[in-house]
Parts: sequence; structure tokens; C-alpha cells
Amino acid sequence: MSLARREFVAGLSAAALAGASWGARAAGEPSLAERARRKGLFYGCSVANQLDKDPAYAAAVAHEAGLLAAEFQNQWQYLGRKPDGATDFSAGEVVARFAAAHGQLLRGHALVWFSRLGDPFKQAASRAEAERALVAHVREMCTHYAGRMQSWDVVNEPLDPFDGGPDGLRARGDALTEKLGPDYIDIAFHTAREADPKAILVLNEAGIENDAERHERQRRNLIGLIDRLQDRRVPVDAIGLQSHLRTGRQSSIGAGYGAFVPAKFERFVSEITARGLRIIVTELDVFDGGSPGDVAARDREVAAMYADYLAIILKPKQTLGVVTWGLSDRYSWITGGTVDRFKRADKLPSRPLPLDTDLRPTPCYAALAAAFDAAPSR
Ligand code: XIL
Repeated sequence: MSLARREFVAGLSAAALAGASWGARAAGEPSLAERARRKGLFYGCSVANQLDKDPAYAAAVAHEAGLLAAEFQNQWQYLGRKPDGATDFSAGEVVARFAAAHGQLLRGHALVWFSRLGDPFKQAASRAEAERALVAHVREMCTHYAGRMQSWDVVNEPLDPFDGGPDGLRARGDALTEKLGPDYIDIAFHTAREADPKAILVLNEAGIENDAERHERQRRNLIGLIDRLQDRRVPVDAIGLQSHLRTGRQSSIGAGYGAFVPAKFERFVSEITARGLRIIVTELDVFDGGSPGDVAARDREVAAMYADYLAIILKPKQTLGVVTWGLSDRYSWITGGTVDRFKRADKLPSRPLPLDTDLRPTPCYAALAAAFDAAPSR
């Protein structure tokens, strides 16, 4: 047993007292992190701001996750300022320190995202000023975390399936393209590479997995974007597939989101790998709005969705790992109740993640475990 592993198992026994149901189970079985690692993959989860407030949950995160991603703490808009004007990294550092203490990888989310831009960019009055703000931000973040970030989402959600420009990039009302045009992507990636040459640089995109017209448009536009970026030698290493999925494959519910059609998705995945890129599943979760209220039936459908998806995405050697967007239903943007499209018609709380609100493993935990066990080694 490695030192890091021994340390966290030791840390666990104290913490497990706080969360008996989860702790009791954890002792004998390999964690999700361990199952993934055995195949040369990683498994991780995002964490918001509960690590230092909820010891039982923190113990579960320490045990199950081989990688952590701060959900919002490193986003430009949310970075605080210290009295002397310097950037306050303390929220992100809580996660970084936890990861270091538990031998976990760390990934950064997200340097440039249209919906979380910082004031210096939003207020920039000229192209030169906007570029200066963007470069300064990316450089500062990457430098601060250099050597610690396994990967960075350099650009998040550049595409808009409805209102994008001819190239699919967000256009109308989008500060990034309005101020800098498509070049903002080039600038962000080049700056990130220069400031942290070791981190895997990721282009992260949403709403792209299903057999729906809007997803098909995202797929075509993403491949087009990749081709243009590669022609211009922009250092994109990997594509991040957010993978916020839903149950209801024949879906009458969730109209417009389509069904998951494995063969179609697999073709798209091979278009990415054919371009020499790696893949990270960056934000996996499954909204159960298309499933019945009965918990057992619902959990089966959520688990089946995880299984179907993972069976495809874990096949290529270019897939590096899987991050779920949260670990427990206790803390999830789906169960949080703030996002309208994640409200079930029957108002029951959703069950999107590997551990339920009591930190007990759900059937989708088992689906993840089985998917890692069945994945080819890389
Ligand atoms: C969610 C987060 O979970 C919340 O904490 C945040 O306030 C809203 O967004 N795509 C992304 C994530 O890239 O940052 C989003 O996360 C989910 C969709």
C-alpha cells in the first residue's frame, strides 16, 4: 500500500465514525478511484464548498475520488480580492489542499466561460484591453496552480446550438466573441500552455451526447471548431464532454434533449479520437426526470444510463477518465433545486449521483464500478 493510500485509509477511520453507513461499507471494497486506476483511468468528482463543513461527506470524497474539481471556486467571476487587491485563491485552495492531502489529482474548471467572466473583461472598452484582461487572468490562474493541475478546462461551452454564429460559436450578446472574435480561444489556450506546460488543456462542451437536432448541431460545430483550431496549431490536448445526461431514452419527457443512441455517439467519439485528441468525461450525472417515482425503478434507469454511456466512452484508449458532477445527491446542482429544467413533475428529489443523500451507494455507483472493471486497460 502506498504512503498516500495508507494515510487516507488512516484518515478515514476517524472520519468514518461520522458517517457510519458509508464508512462501514467502504472498508472491504475497492473505491471507484481504485477501480479506475487499475485500468489506467481516473475517477473523480466535483466538489463545491462543503469539504470543510461536512466530515462524513468529506470522508466519502477522500475515499472514492481519485481526482477533484472545484465546481465554481476557480471561476473568474467568483475570485475574490484581498485588501491589497491581489487575487484571493482561498476557496480553490481548500480543494487543492484536500486533494494534495489525500493523494488526489486536481483539475481546473474553468478559465474562460461566457457565463462567469470577470469584471476586468466585462468592462474592457477596447479589443486590446479585453485581450490584456484575458491573458492576465489565464496566466495568473495557470501560474498559481502550475504543477498541481492535472488538467484545465481552458474554454467552457464555446458553442451555441440555437443562436450561434455560422461557425456555431456563441455570438449575439456574447462578450467573448463580441470583443475578441473566435481568437479568444486561441489566446486562452496559448497563454495556458505557456504558463503551465504540463497541464492537459481541455476544450469543454455541453449538450452533445444525444440523438437530438441541437446535439447533432453541437457535434458538427465542435468537429468544425477542432479542425480550425488544429489548422491554427492551437494547443488543445483533450475534449471535455460534460455529459449531463437524462433517463427516458424513448423520451417523451425532456423533449428536445433526444435519446442516447450508443452507435451514433460512438461515431462522434471516433471523430474526436481520429483527430489525435484525448477525451475526459468532465461533469457526468443523470437527471431522472424521465423516470417513474418508485425509487428502485428509477435507480435502475439511472444506472442503465450510466452503464450505456460508460460502455462507449471507456472503450477508446484516448479516454483518460471520468468526473461526476458531485459525488452524493446531498450536494448536486440537480438536486439543489435551483435549476428549473431539473425539477421532476412529481416534485420528488432526483437521484443523479453514485451516493445518495445518506452517502449510501446507489445502483449507479455499481454501474460505475462495473464499467471501470470492464474497461480495457490503458
Ligand atoms: C453548475 C454548478 O454545479 C453550480 O455550482 C453552478 O453555480 C452552476 O453551474 N456546466 C458547467 C458547470 O460547466 O460549471 C455547471 O455547474 C453545470 C453545467
